[in-house]
Amino acid sequence: MKLLMKEIKMKHLKNIVLLSALVGVCLGFISVKSPNQPIFGNIEKEYLLSKSFNFYPQEKDTSKWVAPAEADNLKNPIDVNEKTLTEGSTIYKINCRSCHGRLGDGKGVEAADLSTLSTNFTDPSFVKQSDGSMFWKISHGRNDMKPMNVVLSEKEIWTVINFIKTFSQPSKE
Ligand code: HEC
Repeated sequence: MKLLMKEIKMKHLKNIVLLSALVGVCLGFISVKSPNQPIFGNIEKEYLLSKSFNFYPQEKDTSKWVAPAEADNLKNPIDVNEKTLTEGSTIYKINCRSCHGRLGDGKGVEAADLSTLSTNFTDPSFVKQSDGSMFWKISHGRNDMKPMNVVLSEKEIWTVINFIKTFSQPSKE
């Protein structure tokens, strides 16, 4: 009988230990998740969450972004003229300007909040790539740059490419 009591106590003890461990984990989770937690800044919090729960499966890739070589074979089907450049400018204002900036220099209003730099379209190393390479990158996205083929048609992506190439050209006006 005594032995049985002891066994039951042991079982309870185990349950209590398990339960407190569970509560501990929950509290830990809430403290990391709590939006107004001053201990960690947003970036650290994001980092912690990404580490512990893998909410962000992709690690930030800071290497030079290179499109597959086949992308160079893609040809831009959109003529460059006043009409298509105006269309490109409108697509840019709505979908790209917040990060890449009014002047295409990567200094848009949202850019400061990102952990990766928004590409400067006037940078010579950007300009020298093919339209096909740009098309591939805009469609696929990387890091903070989301895949744009979800919101834009292929035609719209080619149209905006013609427009972003004008940032590096001296203004004719
Ligand atoms: C939320 C911010 C954001 C928006 C919106 C955005 N971009 Fe980007 N873009 C970035 C960032 C950040 C990078 C750099 C990504 C990297 O190197 O990992 C980038 C990179 C690029 C690149 C590749 C540059 C290179 O390395 O050659 C192109 C092209 C580009 N963006 C075009 C666009 C176009 C066109 C749009 C609108 C249709 C757009 N982006 C919208 C943030 C943004």
